[in-house]
Amino acid sequence: MEPTLEQEMVACPLMPSSLLLPRKVLLATFALAPAALALTLGCKGPHGGAPAGNRSISAQAPPLPPDASPQVIAGAASYQKYCALCHGIDARGYAADNAPSLVSPTFLESASDHFLTRSIREGRQGTAMAGYAKPFGGPLDDRQIGEIIAYLRSQGPAPLQLPPHRSSGNAARGQEVYDRSCVPCHGTQAQRGFAVQIWHPNFLAAASDEFLHHAITLGRPGTAMPAFIGTLSPGEIDDLLALLKSWGGASLPRPAIQPLEIPKGPVVINPGGAMPKFTLRENRYVPAEQVKKALDAKNRLVIIDARATSDWHQAHIPGAISVPYYGFSRLDDVPNDDKTWVLAYCACPHHASGVVVDELRRRGYKHTAIIDEGILEWQRRKYPIEGEPLPAASGSTPKVPPRLAPLLPHP
Ligand code: HEC
Ligand code: HEC
Repeated sequence: MEPTLEQEMVACPLMPSSLLLPRKVLLATFALAPAALALTLGCKGPHGGAPAGNRSISAQAPPLPPDASPQVIAGAASYQKYCALCHGIDARGYAADNAPSLVSPTFLESASDHFLTRSIREGRQGTAMAGYAKPFGGPLDDRQIGEIIAYLRSQGPAPLQLPPHRSSGNAARGQEVYDRSCVPCHGTQAQRGFAVQIWHPNFLAAASDEFLHHAITLGRPGTAMPAFIGTLSPGEIDDLLALLKSWGGASLPRPAIQPLEIPKGPVVINPGGAMPKFTLRENRYVPAEQVKKALDAKNRLVIIDARATSDWHQAHIPGAISVPYYGFSRLDDVPNDDKTWVLAYCACPHHASGVVVDELRRRGYKHTAIIDEGILEWQRRKYPIEGEPLPAASGSTPKVPPRLAPLLPHP
């Protein structure tokens, strides 16, 4: 049985995954006629076909033009290795963890290199988006990040010189508009929605007024984000900008890591301990509670952190080794002895860990499983953690807005 939506939400406290928001729902839910029209067009547009919601990974990477520069070719390879897991092979988003599209035309024409570089370097802590830059313990140097950006840029329109836009709106009035028009998808700081966290300090610190204005007026064609031009007055959009700016501030600090290389500590936890007994769901998932009990009982096992290395550096389950979804070399050290359990986890909560467990099974490991709830729920339950978890942006367990819940199909 797949988890029900409700269980999925509980399992994934910070970034609900696997939500699908078909256009029908939007049309039924929002009295946004022009916006809905724009969305309809958007979904059938050049980037169309996939409304927001997790997609199957059947998409093809778009072929590179024959005259693609070496930079774009290198960026395409890095993109597939590090980013496609969540943002999709074609970068249109929603392959996992509700990662947004990175190539919708309105995004590419308004996102500055500064915005893209910061988003990739620092990530959005408290979400599945890790910081990928080397100084934070991530795998990418500035040249590689530049190549990925060049690749993304090759997939859509060039950046526009947006007309300067300074909001003179009123944040209190903006809050009313927000509650009415934005909450069903974006949620609130205390009650997250499924769409990008637009109050995230790292997002707001990097996003210009012009970028925000462009997104709200024109939407993101090919995604669930409607165009609000014609639905909201220019004054209301200005009030929204004032509200977003009032949330903004300094980005959450991301401490630099030393040393950058992950030390090769012991692989097996409690090497002399008894073997744990786990009862798996669907022959694949082990409940976090059973893992906690096995650790308390000093059982022998291996735990793998499948997230980007920067996330391991920040905080991990004690004794967990780092085998990120993009590099398996450390698996050679993991005993393949028909007895030892090898468990993997990630943030939210099955995709990166699933990649590692599939690889273990391909290599013939007999006792493997994904820690079902992922590390964010592990933290929330105050199970043991090594390191200092980064402060989550804010808020607690997200819920599907009640009006949408009955309409959302199960993942
Ligand atoms: C484990 C899943 C995952 C992986 C892998 C991942 N991302 Fe993300 N990314 C996300 C999520 C989720 C968000 C949105 C966070 C939020 O809710 O605010 C995001 C946001 C972003 C954003 C900001 C987009 C916006 O509209 O604000 C950029 C840019 C980005 N990712 C680029 C990348 C690149 C480049 C890579 C590969 C180096 C990558 N991501 C790998 C999950 C992922
Ligand atoms: C029907 C759902 C829905 C509604 C309603 C909605 N949004 Fe969005 N919004 C989204 C989704 C989904 C995205 C990410 C799209 C993508 O993948 O590029 C998004 C993206 C954005 C972005 C760009 C974020 C980024 O990281 O690039 C901004 C800004 C934004 N929305 C603001 C708003 C505001 C303000 C409102 C209310 C007036 C609103 N949205 C209403 C679903 C929605």
